[in-house]
Amino acid sequence: MNAIPFINLPNKPCHSQFDDQDWQILAQHWYPVARIEDVSSKPQQVTLLDMNLALYKTETGQIHLARDICPHRGVPLSKGWVEGDTLICPYHGLHFNEDGKCSKIPAQPDLTHISERFSLTKFPVVLKYGLVWTSILGRDESLANFPVLDTWESETHQAILPPSVDIAGSSGRQLEGFIDVAHFAWVHHQAFADRHNPVVPKYSTERTDYGLHTNYISNVSNYPHGIQHLAPDDFLWERIFDVYPPFSAMLTIHFPNDGVLKILNACCPVSHNKTRLFVPLTRNFDTTGDLQAVYDFNAQIFAEDQEMVEAQKPEELPLDMSMEAHFEADRSSAMYRRILAEWGLSKRYTV
Ligand code: FES
Ligand SMILES: [Fe+2]
Repeated sequence: MNAIPFINLPNKPCHSQFDDQDWQILAQHWYPVARIEDVSSKPQQVTLLDMNLALYKTETGQIHLARDICPHRGVPLSKGWVEGDTLICPYHGLHFNEDGKCSKIPAQPDLTHISERFSLTKFPVVLKYGLVWTSILGRDESLANFPVLDTWESETHQAILPPSVDIAGSSGRQLEGFIDVAHFAWVHHQAFADRHNPVVPKYSTERTDYGLHTNYISNVSNYPHGIQHLAPDDFLWERIFDVYPPFSAMLTIHFPNDGVLKILNACCPVSHNKTRLFVPLTRNFDTTGDLQAVYDFNAQIFAEDQEMVEAQKPEELPLDMSMEAHFEADRSSAMYRRILAEWGLSKRYTV
């Protein structure tokens, strides 16, 4: 997997604290910005890499993303509204069609030609795993390093999409925490792990064309504490992590009786120290079970992680390996950092 070459499109917003080159590299990639079910004809603002975007659906059902700034006088278009297939700015009523072209200036109804300068900056939209994905600079969807959640539309797996979670921490730190197997016993001892079982057995991690692949086998149950007796005593739990840099990772967990749970950890890097986390998941067991219980268990685990991620310093991931200490069980996260460093992200990668 190679870094995607630069192309000239929008610049880094001036208030952004990302290093210029880091922003240029990260802006080539694709990220989820919202759940499809949360998009409506009422425009809303979402933020990706410090750039505000207006997200809305037109009458045809098409979902659009445009830079959230009117080309006329800079009012956020998310304060406007949709009529049919047209987005209308609330300040002087300019109309924008589905291509982002200005189709009407109400103050000058006789204008025969409206300049391209009035056009919106639009962003591509890809719908995947119940989420709206986009990229600021990456225009070619075929170059995107989308994570693979192949059970999302399977008839034998139930697809579940909990609400997103806002984290006051960087996406790199959050993602690294998701693939960290040594923290289970310490951070998740109330949910499923055990402080008396902290040892991480040796595991393998390999580079792939999309990122990295880790296979981790241990006796750490993935059942909540109350039902851990349901697994046979000698059951070994297999957890497979597939990391799709920069900020997505898939976790596949094999349960007793051929149960499979897949969890996609997909970060939207809102800013250098803010993340909106989306977690689509699928399972082939308990498929008619109580969804609220799934939401609650996930919320508990991610809240436990959140406390750590929001407290870490520096806020961004230090790609210079000498800035932090590492032990053998960190091999996945060390490889993850090396990939980001190879892409040209700054060694300090911090502010
Ligand atoms: S600022 Fe949008 S129409 Fe004038
Ligand atoms: Fe965790």
